[in-house]
Amino acid sequence: MTTPMHFDFDEIIDRRNTHAYKYDALQKVFGRDDITPLWVADMEFRSPQCITDELQKVLSQGVYGYSSEPAELFDAIHDWILQEHGWDVKRDWYTFVGGIVRGIAYAVQFFTKPGDKIVVQSPVYHPFTLVPEGNGRSVLRNPLKGRDMDFENLEKLLTENAPVTMLILCNPHNPGGYAWSRETLQKLAALCAAHNVIVISDEIHCDLYLWGGKHIPFATVSEEAAMCSITFGAPSKTFNIPGLASSYCLIPNAKIREPFYRWLGANEFNDPGIMSSLGAIAAFRHGRQWRDAAVSYIEQNILYIESKCAEFVDKDSLPYIVPMRPDASYLVWLDCRRLLAHLAGKRVEELAMEDQLLLEDYFVNRLGLALNSGVMFGAEGLGFMRLNVACPRKLLGFDFML
Ligand SMILES: Cc1ncc(COP(=O)(O)O)c(C=O)c1O
Repeated sequence: MTTPMHFDFDEIIDRRNTHAYKYDALQKVFGRDDITPLWVADMEFRSPQCITDELQKVLSQGVYGYSSEPAELFDAIHDWILQEHGWDVKRDWYTFVGGIVRGIAYAVQFFTKPGDKIVVQSPVYHPFTLVPEGNGRSVLRNPLKGRDMDFENLEKLLTENAPVTMLILCNPHNPGGYAWSRETLQKLAALCAAHNVIVISDEIHCDLYLWGGKHIPFATVSEEAAMCSITFGAPSKTFNIPGLASSYCLIPNAKIREPFYRWLGANEFNDPGIMSSLGAIAAFRHGRQWRDAAVSYIEQNILYIESKCAEFVDKDSLPYIVPMRPDASYLVWLDCRRLLAHLAGKRVEELAMEDQLLLEDYFVNRLGLALNSGVMFGAEGLGFMRLNVACPRKLLGFDFML
């Protein structure tokens, strides 16, 4: 029996003046830089030592020439996905991409034309909207119904706006960390396949399931799903290495895959740098214990925040903030609508977009915290804030107050 390794997630690491976006952008985005950054989705934890050890070998040699992609990279990805999610992905389906947003952008550019329509299910990770719109495509929103997809509205959108070329799925969903059931994903696949819609499944958070939950890769739920989908995944969120820009793309359908991969290759959009390859291999081969420990620590942080929210109540003992418990990952979607109504002197039903400023001001200037404002994920985020709890518990030591 091996002794469990100890990982110090309580360690406070000073990331100021290290070109960390989460810190560098505080002044520009929040107007102050003396606040605690609980926004951008990276962790305040040191990445697993096995990754640093591997990168250190390159630094020690001190030669940073052109590299070739190690065959071991696919093998490490394959074995991880098989063991974690029971999905036996084939070598042909795979290519490297240097970041998931970039991968989505390549797919948008390759499979759609300016003016084409792309569906997103909001509130959702904002680049799902920014990338298509920035490339002259138009975005159709199918707002979520709480923790569910609105299939009635989706069918209507796809029918009334035909042809719709693409749908970008967040599996599991950000913000909220919602896991989709097999039935939901099967229904989505059937509907998209019937309307000839390519589904991009962004599964970047798939290796951070909480509370013993299991991820279901979209492409595995049915033959239709396999045939209409492009899946993106990465070790970046799981092992806190987004700065290494290492991701992968999986496409079972040769008709979609072959021309796309030819185009990626011709443009050298799928060449990994040496650090991207070695970091990913080390993570997938040797990072499991670290990941398991990080997940446990994150679960405790979520429970800690839930207990704080439960104590922050009005005179009728109703909570001002209700945290949506995530099924996966470390981004807690806080329903602050009752708090915002209180701050605005309105009823919840009367809240308007401009009121969100009061909520943003409350977190920054009253609590000294930088969170993502809910409206950056779509208008449905009015009255919500997104809190990143992948940090030493000490950084969550604030108290909600009025
Ligand atoms: C759903 C989702 N996709 C993609 C990304 C970013 O991925 P990358 O840094 O590989 O572009 C994030 C980061 O927060 C995310 O939440």
